[in-house]
Amino acid sequence: MKQIERLAALFPARESVPPAHRLESPLHQRSILINGELRDWEGPTHTVLSPVSFRDADGRLLPVEVGSYPITSANESLEALQAAVGAYAAGTGQWPTMSVDQRIVHVQDFTRRIVEQRDLIVKLIMWEIGKSAADSAKEFDRTIDYIRQTIDALKELDNNNSRFQMVEGTIAQIRRAPLGVVLCMGPYNYPLNETFTTLIPALIMGNVILFKPPRFGTLLFAPILQAFRDAFPPGVVNTVYGRGEEVVPPLMTSGQVNVLALIGSSRVADKLKKLHPKTNRLRAVLGLDAKNAAIILPDADIDLAVRECVLGSLSFNGQRCTALKLVMVHQSIADAFVEKFCAAVSALPVGMPWEPGVAITPLPDRNKPGYLSECVADALEKGARVCNTDGGQSAETLYVPAVVYPVDETMRLFREEQFGPIVPIVPFDDIDSALSYVENSDYGQQVSIFGSDADTIATLVDPLVNQVCRVNINCQCQRGPDVFPFTGRKDSAEGTLSVSDALRAFSVRTMVAAKDTAASKALLDDIVLGHKSSFVNTRFIF
Ligand code: G3H
Repeated sequence: MKQIERLAALFPARESVPPAHRLESPLHQRSILINGELRDWEGPTHTVLSPVSFRDADGRLLPVEVGSYPITSANESLEALQAAVGAYAAGTGQWPTMSVDQRIVHVQDFTRRIVEQRDLIVKLIMWEIGKSAADSAKEFDRTIDYIRQTIDALKELDNNNSRFQMVEGTIAQIRRAPLGVVLCMGPYNYPLNETFTTLIPALIMGNVILFKPPRFGTLLFAPILQAFRDAFPPGVVNTVYGRGEEVVPPLMTSGQVNVLALIGSSRVADKLKKLHPKTNRLRAVLGLDAKNAAIILPDADIDLAVRECVLGSLSFNGQRCTALKLVMVHQSIADAFVEKFCAAVSALPVGMPWEPGVAITPLPDRNKPGYLSECVADALEKGARVCNTDGGQSAETLYVPAVVYPVDETMRLFREEQFGPIVPIVPFDDIDSALSYVENSDYGQQVSIFGSDADTIATLVDPLVNQVCRVNINCQCQRGPDVFPFTGRKDSAEGTLSVSDALRAFSVRTMVAAKDTAASKALLDDIVLGHKSSFVNTRFIF
């Protein structure tokens, strides 16, 4: 059997999916959430096809239909915007003026409601984007942890601000206040987690939300819409469904979006920011492109470097913004590294997302294998080779990871963010050439260095911390733990996300000040002791 047939044979018949992972029937979402109302939608819809195909009785492979969702127009997105603007009411609405402890209660209520939907949401992540069942469950649980940690961080932030300061004859209370309407758009690789790492902090700080789900990983929000409706006041969370290029630009040109929270491409972020008529009023919180490199020094522990680089480059088929997308290895160990790396890649189980231990799964973007093959062909034409057995072979949406070596600066794989299962390996003689790669890159998210000499590592760390925002020593690049700052330089990010940084990103410091006089003190006392203000108070949230 040819390799392509062997790969195609990995797609099963419908009956062979274990019952625990089956979707009973396609989910046809026919409602959108605007102004606290789940409105019926009778307009055009988009059919969601899974990256997984089933083999029919004649042996044909047919993509699984996961369901469908509304394709709304610019009219509905503008209605959603008006609902959000109305709920914010220039900062006078119920939600932005609500006390922090009450907002926390609403978010806790929301969390309870979505935890009840865990099984369905996890299944939808798996079927919509092909993420393994284990990783889909991990994505859900990590998101719930993130929400709980956010609540704790907000309590701490608010409690620290629950006191007056007296400086140079002025009494002040300084807190963080919301910014207004936040447009939240997450990516398809972590559709739930990364969307919620901006949406939840934005929401809990008192902002109102326009939420557009990613292009793959849309239906998994269907079971969440009701929770949004029931847990928050009307207009606080509104959905925008449909084609991004049609439904998002009118929101930006309206000038009424105060924060653009986008985890996606720098091209889209650039375009959207420029549409806002008053750019000074727009805050952008962005997680964008990256091409993180691993730099493997001559004295590196090769086995450890192989292990971390396989994880770093191929977890979820390389579809992570933090993935290692270029591996630079010192010439003196390059052959040994490539050999061990290829062996480790060949050992990765390829298969369907519900299979225990599976590593390489079908890709959600059906055009991706074609793009990846073009990148490999370009490298082969310019002198590289695919070093692992069957690397770059594909059938339908399954693509066997390709280890491409030796890659140089003339090849597309040297600069393009492949965002998929290709590992370009670049040999280097002189560490300056590895450093200059990072320096000249358009991106500046993270880097990994592998080596054992403290002097060498130290001399690399010092220039690299000014090029990227996280230097990993003898380990892969990654976002977590989520309490650590997640950001980047150049075209990789704007603003910093982490459990506590995100609360700051979606708020501004605001203060109430008065002269240090007996009359002011009496007045402030009256407000505090009478619990007359959500802002001016000394309450401690337990
Ligand atoms: O796609 C980017 C994600 O934030 C990466 O998160 O490093 O934990 O996989 P991760």
